[in-house]
Amino acid sequence: MTTVSSTDHGVQQWSGQTALVTGASSGIGAAIVSRLLAEGMRVVACARRRDRVTEVLAASDPLGEQSLAVRCDVRDEESVQAAFAAARERFGGVDVLINNAGLGHAALLAEGTVAEWQEMLEVNVLGLCICTREALADMRARGGRGQIIHIGSMAGQRVPAGAGLYAATKHAVRALTESLRMELREASDPIRVGEICPGFVETGFAAHYMKSEDQAQEIYSRFKVLEAADVAEAVVYMLSCPPHVQVHDILMRPTEQPT
Ligand SMILES: NC(=O)c1ccc[n+]([C@@H]2O[C@H](COP(=O)([O-])OP(=O)(O)OC[C@H]3O[C@@H](n4cnc5c(N)ncnc54)[C@H](OP(=O)(O)O)[C@@H]3O)[C@@H](O)[C@H]2O)c1
Repeated sequence: MTTVSSTDHGVQQWSGQTALVTGASSGIGAAIVSRLLAEGMRVVACARRRDRVTEVLAASDPLGEQSLAVRCDVRDEESVQAAFAAARERFGGVDVLINNAGLGHAALLAEGTVAEWQEMLEVNVLGLCICTREALADMRARGGRGQIIHIGSMAGQRVPAGAGLYAATKHAVRALTESLRMELREASDPIRVGEICPGFVETGFAAHYMKSEDQAQEIYSRFKVLEAADVAEAVVYMLSCPPHVQVHDILMRPTEQPT
């Protein structure tokens, strides 16, 4: 029987180690970046809007010693590989990957455009797979343990009316979590994987989804929705577990969310 040392408990087990966070320019990703820096991790923060990422980092790591802003489009394999190369050059590699980049379009199956469906599939599913593959290679080359966390959605646990292909992409994320867990067990690999599935969170997501800031505000005003920091808290909980504990899925809704 292996014993668990005190250094394996709590989020401090990752102190000084490096997390790469996708979708770090806004919402949940930005909150996760700030929280992981506050917890003593080094962070490689990625998104297409690098200027927005830089603003997020300026607030949490003004000297820029513990973080790196990288322009990355997860739809572009070379762009992802360049982000991981930048992480290796600056911090020696990645120990934690937060697969957060994602988006939705209100694009009904009877009316949506291929461009909208393709973007959701490429960002929410394929981009997540590319980042996962690059992170695994990095973690294995470093010979240590690692943690991969997918930001799924409650739309991946049941199908909300009108969610069209978005719900299908988040069901795919759920399947990919279990596929990766089984691949890692087959390989006797100490790297862990888990998924966090939020309900409504107040971010830029709804305005993008509805193509309307007013409609987004209407949704967020119906009841108290989750804050991005609530999801960051769940990330910290997952990272706090000792190595023999793998939290597979966290489902979290606003208390008043009816669906
Ligand atoms: N908000 C919610 O109610 C809710 C609920 C459940 C799950 N989620 C999930 O939470 C995750 C984060 O969303 P959010 O709510 O924080 O929304 P958000 O504020 O709109 O942030 C989305 C992030 O994804 C990034 N992104 C989009 N396309 C990208 C691409 N091609 N390459 C790289 N990054 C890209 C954006 O960065 P750039 O545009 O700068 O590239 C942005 O940082 C998503 O996976 C979403 O599905 C959200």
